[in-house]
Amino acid sequence: MTWKGGVNAFDFAYGVAERCLRNSLPRRWVHVQGVAKRAGLSRSLFSSEDGEVLVAAAMLHDVGYSPGLVNSGFHPLDGALYLQSLGCPERICALVAHHSCAYKEAKLRQLTTELAVWEDEDTDVRDALWWADMTTTPDGYPTNVASRIREIQERYGPTDLVTAFISEAKSELVAAVERTEERLRVAGLGHLAK
Ligand SMILES: [Fe+2]
Repeated sequence: MTWKGGVNAFDFAYGVAERCLRNSLPRRWVHVQGVAKRAGLSRSLFSSEDGEVLVAAAMLHDVGYSPGLVNSGFHPLDGALYLQSLGCPERICALVAHHSCAYKEAKLRQLTTELAVWEDEDTDVRDALWWADMTTTPDGYPTNVASRIREIQERYGPTDLVTAFISEAKSELVAAVERTEERLRVAGLGHLAK
């Protein structure tokens, strides 16, 4: 898959994520590289185009945290809007908009209508993106979903909206991770399931 001007999908995603995160949010930059690497390990589950989409979306999923493009303050939405403005394919924008159960957080932030511009494709690719994000630490290392959710709750603290969101989203997040890990086991990649 190529972007406008014939740019390779991964190079485009890497360049955008690097520009958005490397200097301003170095820990996020390391995290997204870890998520993209993990997503890449699951690529054999998918067609070559789906695999490219998955890895590009993984690299781009948190660009909405970049201070330069904060608009609503809700990173999946801000990231998707920014990527749309760059001419990024609709599918990638939608995967970023809906990554890791974003619709639940949108509800808490009263941004459901804004997020509904994009559709959650609800596929194995989308599950794998959620899996990669929810099994990669903030420092880019592999982890399991229970530890990842616990770390988020601890990092944000008991009164933060993100903690409320992650607690509400837990069952859907775990289900997407479990579906992906089952697919990995069936494909002989059980070592990636933690
Ligand atoms: Fe993330």
